[in-house]
Amino acid sequence: MSEFIWIKGEIVPMDEARISVEDRGYQFADGVYEVVKLYGGKPFTLEPHLQRLEKSAQGIDISLPMDRSTLKTEIAKLVARSGVGDGMVYIQLTRGVAPRNHIYDPGQKPTLLFYARPCDDPQLPGEGEGVRLLTQEDDRWKRCWIKSIALLPNVLAKNKAVRAGADEAVFIDNGVVTECSATNIFAVIGGKLVTHPVGSKVLPGITRAVLLDCAAELDIPVEERGFVEEEALRAGELFITSTTRELSWVARWNDRYIGQARCGPITLALHRALRKRVLSETAD
Ligand code: PDD
Repeated sequence: MSEFIWIKGEIVPMDEARISVEDRGYQFADGVYEVVKLYGGKPFTLEPHLQRLEKSAQGIDISLPMDRSTLKTEIAKLVARSGVGDGMVYIQLTRGVAPRNHIYDPGQKPTLLFYARPCDDPQLPGEGEGVRLLTQEDDRWKRCWIKSIALLPNVLAKNKAVRAGADEAVFIDNGVVTECSATNIFAVIGGKLVTHPVGSKVLPGITRAVLLDCAAELDIPVEERGFVEEEALRAGELFITSTTRELSWVARWNDRYIGQARCGPITLALHRALRKRVLSETAD
């Protein structure tokens, strides 16, 4: 299947798309992005993803070149042209092309692009092996609420984790668990669902927000606070969330097993509730 990309207002085959070497995304990682999941060709939680894209763009002083509803229409055209059913849409907005200079022109024309691509089906609730986390120092900047394309600390942390036989890197900032390289993290501690507040150290994950909503619906008490690594290791259940993954239960952290080393009941209930939302939002 040939891949298509929407770039600068046109849908073209991926291998025909061209970006200047002096696009600031390439030279300065001066841009933001989104990943939206497709189920049977339909996007899940597109509206909050686009709202977050606008916030991220504002956070680095870029304006989107079109309004949200036009962007939705253009994304739908691209998805239809791509023929992707279960997959994801990657959206990237950079400050655009200009002679290399740290100082930018606030009126500069940004570069917007997006493409759809199939991706692995997420695991069904309670199924599969639990993931293994590896602790890494959180050495990222203090604006993690911006979904920046400057992902080098995340990339290095994840690669270190994977090379050590783990699946995901979990960031620790001054002893406190923040989030993972590409996922938010939750712990079940004393019957409560605990997760770090979003903001300077944690991305406001869309899956995280949906799950907090599901928790309220299921009467599961929630505490948004930082927790230390030792608390996490003693938690009854731990799980990580993201758009592409949905929810993955954690079996091991470094060399320690978590809880009963199986998907716990609160994790399972929350994943089932999330699936229900996916099905109802993306049904024909
Ligand atoms: N990653 N935290 C970080 C650092 C992330 O990069 C992501 C998403 C999340 C989860 O956010 P959401 O539920 O909105 O996907 C949390 C995406 C999927 C990626 O970079 O591919």
